Amino acid sequence: MPRHLITSALPYINGVKHLGNLVGSMLPADVYARYLRQSGEEVLFVCATDEHGTPAELAAAAAGQAVDEYCAEQHEVQRELCEQFGLSWDWFGRTSRPQNYELTNHFARRLRSEGFCEIRSTEQVYSLTDQRFLPDRYVVGTCPNCGYERARGDQCESCGKPLEPVDLIDPRSAISGSVDLEVRSSNHVFLRQEALADRIREWIDTKDSWPSQTRSIAYKWLDEGLRDRGITRDLAWGIPVDPDDFPEVAGKVWYVWFDAPIGYLAAVREWADAGCGGDDPQAEFDSWWRLDSGADQVEYTQFMGKDNVPFHTLSFPATLLGSGEPWKLVDRLKSFNWLTYYGGKFSTSDHRGVFMSDALELLPADYWRWYLMSNAPESDDSSFTWELFGSAVNKELVGTFGNLVNRTVTQVERHFESCVPDGGEPETEEAELSAAVQQRLEEYLAFLDALEFRKAAASLRALWSLGNVYLETREPWKTIKVDPARTACTLRTALELLVVCAVASEPFVPAAAAKLQGAFPTVNWEDLRLKADLASRNHLQPGDTLKSPGLLFAKLPAEQLEEWEQRFGGNSSDGTTAESDKVEP
Ligand code: MF3
Ligand code: ZN
Repeated sequence: MPRHLITSALPYINGVKHLGNLVGSMLPADVYARYLRQSGEEVLFVCATDEHGTPAELAAAAAGQAVDEYCAEQHEVQRELCEQFGLSWDWFGRTSRPQNYELTNHFARRLRSEGFCEIRSTEQVYSLTDQRFLPDRYVVGTCPNCGYERARGDQCESCGKPLEPVDLIDPRSAISGSVDLEVRSSNHVFLRQEALADRIREWIDTKDSWPSQTRSIAYKWLDEGLRDRGITRDLAWGIPVDPDDFPEVAGKVWYVWFDAPIGYLAAVREWADAGCGGDDPQAEFDSWWRLDSGADQVEYTQFMGKDNVPFHTLSFPATLLGSGEPWKLVDRLKSFNWLTYYGGKFSTSDHRGVFMSDALELLPADYWRWYLMSNAPESDDSSFTWELFGSAVNKELVGTFGNLVNRTVTQVERHFESCVPDGGEPETEEAELSAAVQQRLEEYLAFLDALEFRKAAASLRALWSLGNVYLETREPWKTIKVDPARTACTLRTALELLVVCAVASEPFVPAAAAKLQGAFPTVNWEDLRLKADLASRNHLQPGDTLKSPGLLFAKLPAEQLEEWEQRFGGNSSDGTTAESDKVEP
């Protein structure tokens, strides 16, 4: 039985994430981790904040803070929000911690001694006013191709042409607007990805179970020719290169996309160093990451938005493979399309869309988790609208799951003094229900296993529905007057189904599931596994007490939804498509 390592793309430190960020990596990773744990599997689920690079520096400056102070504060903000969203990490680290410094310099050293690093002199734009080198995308000017006046030095957003900063007409600093720029030459370390391309391709060739979207992105880059990549930067904020290993670039830092994925290893190292895995951190770390120390028994699954795929299929594997050491590579990779806001971008600056902090002010996490995951942008982009959100809540959470729980509990309270009823014999309807539940569960588990979240959510919803259909057929509220034994059997059966739902719903709506579990104080929940045979056993005894779980979900009135739509900017799409900060791998 494999042990499961799960990571989600590390969120950038600058700014609270919006719902699109959440559903494209962290949330599905959590659903999967919860599903595996519920099934009794061994899981290590880690994440971290991705803290280096120019955006962090600029955000700190805008906030009037030192960058390390800014990052420390934002890390806590994100941790807090993510915890409230129910993200059940075993560890939430930071790429700015010593573990990542050490591992990043370790990989760089290994890559150099394996012959995959090269020092090259490059031409970089220096801004005299800002007193710093400007990364390509922070040089703006007029596109020589289409005349767009705000083209970025890496690519023209208007015509799509890839550019070099020196191509721009009337270049200026995106930071200060200054035109006081000059080109200076600067030494940088290049990772020889070209030399590693064949090994990467061979490895990708073995991944025939990957979704075609993922593979085709990787092959596209490989076919176009993987280019060597500069992995150092002239910045102050980042992981400093070790001057003993790289004297030619002393004083510079590693490129954020070089150190960030190493952050996956560093997060596990942080977890191990904190003693969470036992008293031998080195052995514990190795058992998850080194193929010669037990990681060959690990199944490693990564979650990310599709813009991250090249980094995870090409450049990060290049780092690991090029080291010449037996590091664990990703086994399963799940990527997502974009969640749009009414077809357009979520935008911090325009206050458009819903951010994690806003969301939790309005409603508890389960409402969002359910809507987001049951509408996850898997095969295509999907669009957030308040109407869809309202219907997911009102029809599915309130009308289906909540209703099943509520009407069952109410009848038991009213007619059986809040105890599991005794008497009555199962008839064909009970047998049919049990078979149908088993089938739904099997299908649900198969979809979760396949990382098909929308389909899994649909199966779960169908499971809830089975209960409602059953109650409507058996009508305990009517039979109570004429046939108490039959009513007892009906409600006992419905309660058993609630036990199944309380386990099965946990990956998607953990708080509601916990509430429902609390209604059954006699059940030993620790022992209940999320398995297809869950429905074939009895978990309750006649006479067991039932505690009211209270209302699981509240209905959202139309006026409320309208008010939120007004407040967050609704159906006024600006026509721009969802954001993608494309950088070459
Ligand atoms: N911060 C990046 C993003 O949000 C993801 C980094 S993933 C990592 O797109 F592996 F590099 F950490
Ligand atoms: Zn252009």
